[in-house]
Amino acid sequence: MIVPTKVLFEHAYGKYALGAYNINNLEQTMGLFRGNMESKAPFIIQISKGARSYTDKRMLEAMIRAADEIWPDALFAVHLDHGDEQTCYDCIESGFYSSVMIDASHEPFEKNVEITKRVVDAAHAKGISVEAELGQLGGVEEDISVEEEHAKLTNPAEAEQFVQLTGCDSLACAIGTSHGAFKFSGKQGLHFEVIEEIARRLPRFPLVMHGSSSVPQDEVERINAAGGSLKGAKGVDPNEYLPAAKRGVCKINIDTDGRLVWCRVHREHFRDHPENFDLRPPGKIFMSEYAKFIASRNELLGSAGQLDEARAFVKERLGL
Ligand code: G3H
Ligand code: 13P
Ligand code: ZN
Repeated sequence: MIVPTKVLFEHAYGKYALGAYNINNLEQTMGLFRGNMESKAPFIIQISKGARSYTDKRMLEAMIRAADEIWPDALFAVHLDHGDEQTCYDCIESGFYSSVMIDASHEPFEKNVEITKRVVDAAHAKGISVEAELGQLGGVEEDISVEEEHAKLTNPAEAEQFVQLTGCDSLACAIGTSHGAFKFSGKQGLHFEVIEEIARRLPRFPLVMHGSSSVPQDEVERINAAGGSLKGAKGVDPNEYLPAAKRGVCKINIDTDGRLVWCRVHREHFRDHPENFDLRPPGKIFMSEYAKFIASRNELLGSAGQLDEARAFVKERLGL
């Protein structure tokens, strides 16, 4: 059942985080639903701007509708990941999305407010919620000066002001993570003090953590052993997901790790079976491995086992 993102956040707040997983194709969609059902977790499906143009946005929507029929007990929201203003309007108009993300974090504060506010007004008119972003995610390194390091993180006072000015429903904050498979060269932890200060200023306001892939080292080693070249790939400590969730992070975005599973499965399969050329044997392995991966992440996020309680909560809140 596709449900409003906002209501899932209300259930999760302070207890666990919802895994927000990106899809681009059929195999990811199948593995995603299986993994969430096996671990009994509510979740968020993310579609990025790139994913919408990879094939055709209608194909992704059709796959999600089909998965909803195959797994009628699944409880999830559909979210536009890293949208620009026009893509947000397109998703809002489509009536299919539970929420959209407007990412104007590269703009100066005032311009970010202006753009985000326009999207919030359009989205709220249709009952859709909006995730905005403030701060710059990036390769924050432990060996750069404290001043430089903190300059990239979200400023809690600005976050409070930003939410008041825009009326956005959740906020992606820069708290020490970055996108992709090469996040840090040294050891790097989350900035819990920044999360705590933002949560103190914005009580019960859902915070979002992007760039949360953990880049499992065994996965990287297997990829490299099967012909890959991912030297120095490094991610977030997944044991920090739940402590972040307890402090108000309701949504944790994981995409890169799924791509690593895909890469490992396909590299190993064709290395070990050079005579094969069929897409289905590795596709089958990938779906099963991705489902296992999703279930393992949900355990770390605390969302595993929350499905029945979340469904009852959502039904009550929606009067169903
Ligand atoms: O944060 C970005 C997501 O990982 C989506 O990536 O834009 O390549 O689809 P993408
Ligand atoms: P990763 O690159 O760490 O998976 O982050 C994904 C993300 O933030 C999607 O919006
Ligand atoms: Zn992101």
